[in-house]
Amino acid sequence: MNTEQFLETHGLGPASVDEEALLAAFREEMERGLSGRPGSLAMLPSYLPIDRPVPVGERVIVVDAGGTNLRVATVVFDEGGKASINDLQRYPMPGTKGELSRESFFEALADHLEPVLGCSKRIGFCFSYPAEISPECDGRLLRWTKEIRAPEVVGCWIGQGLAGYLERRGYRKRITMLNDTTATLLAGKVVGQRRRYESYVGFILGTGTNTAYVERNERILKATGLEGAGRQPINIESGGFGRCPQTALDRDFDRTTANPGQQTFEKMISGAYLGSLGLRVLQQGASEGLLSAVGASLLSGVQALTTQELSAFLANPFEPGLLASLGWSPADRGIVHHLLSAVVARAARLAAINLTAAVLKAEAGRDRLHPVGVTLDGSTLHRTHRMAAQIEQHLDRLLRAQGVHFETIRVEEAPILGAAVAGLLR
Ligand code: BGC
Repeated sequence: MNTEQFLETHGLGPASVDEEALLAAFREEMERGLSGRPGSLAMLPSYLPIDRPVPVGERVIVVDAGGTNLRVATVVFDEGGKASINDLQRYPMPGTKGELSRESFFEALADHLEPVLGCSKRIGFCFSYPAEISPECDGRLLRWTKEIRAPEVVGCWIGQGLAGYLERRGYRKRITMLNDTTATLLAGKVVGQRRRYESYVGFILGTGTNTAYVERNERILKATGLEGAGRQPINIESGGFGRCPQTALDRDFDRTTANPGQQTFEKMISGAYLGSLGLRVLQQGASEGLLSAVGASLLSGVQALTTQELSAFLANPFEPGLLASLGWSPADRGIVHHLLSAVVARAARLAAINLTAAVLKAEAGRDRLHPVGVTLDGSTLHRTHRMAAQIEQHLDRLLRAQGVHFETIRVEEAPILGAAVAGLLR
């Protein structure tokens, strides 16, 4: 068997993804989620008034709780919509360094906020985990993703919990919670407002993955009491998409993760998993005789592979590094490179289908003067070798076929800016 045949047999070749079927399944799951029928996409309303202008000259405190880091800062926007970010501090995300109780989780948040609490009454809280948002913009954690360990926090209203701990320290705050993809979408809106986009999408491919888009209130059938004429960002929780066909290798790999059966789409495309999935694919290749006996034995010494290490090897298979420094024969080195490229190529194709579904759901961009602004963010997207380029190529092809105009937007510090906008809008 050659490498191409191996990839096809294992559902990792370019022809293995049925784009149309997947797009249709995505759109169906989005409708289900919006109407409150059971399905794999949470489709969580953000309750943020997207069409209001951003208040100028008022400072807001921002928390950005990501998969690895918790960042705290203060932000103020000037007349031109330009943001200045101050007091930026970075801490490990609570729950990434051993299990935490509910109390220690909130105390850690309060400790990290303490230095900036005097700066503003408002806090915009960007939260990179699935949370149901209330009409008051509090967030109730539905489940942890990204292997965070603080089980008592699941089910808690995070804003209210944090506000209680801050009050004990003598501070009353108005906390606005939003998902990081909603924040990314809002950041794109601030940066892109002069371009007059018709609608917006925010996409993150980092440790985890997710997408937000703008929906008309009248189409959010499961929510009551929304103003009929308005529109708001919806957090799709696209990493939870459950109808992407998994290959036997995906299923094997899923069983080795902390939450088998959940976030199965995320496990095919995001940074927390791509490296390990790549290693699993290499091991399977070796067991089926793709590598030489020496190559197979070199590979058996590799216990773990991160997405960064995978990407470094793809970028330059001769630059010393975890994989490149092994004594591969030229043929084995080429095969390893081919297999890992295929894992990234599949991820890019799947991510583009996910994005296409979101852009089409926004029902905008028919007029080239008013395209859909798609803000792309996340370490895996920007730092994995040829990931962003491949996603954009597929997206271009898929949306062109539908007659939809879009532009990608890149915003530095998108989660922080978006959280600041949200904190100021309420
Ligand atoms: C979380 C999402 C988040 C995404 C990107 C996923 O694991 O469930 O809420 O938006 O990662 O950070």
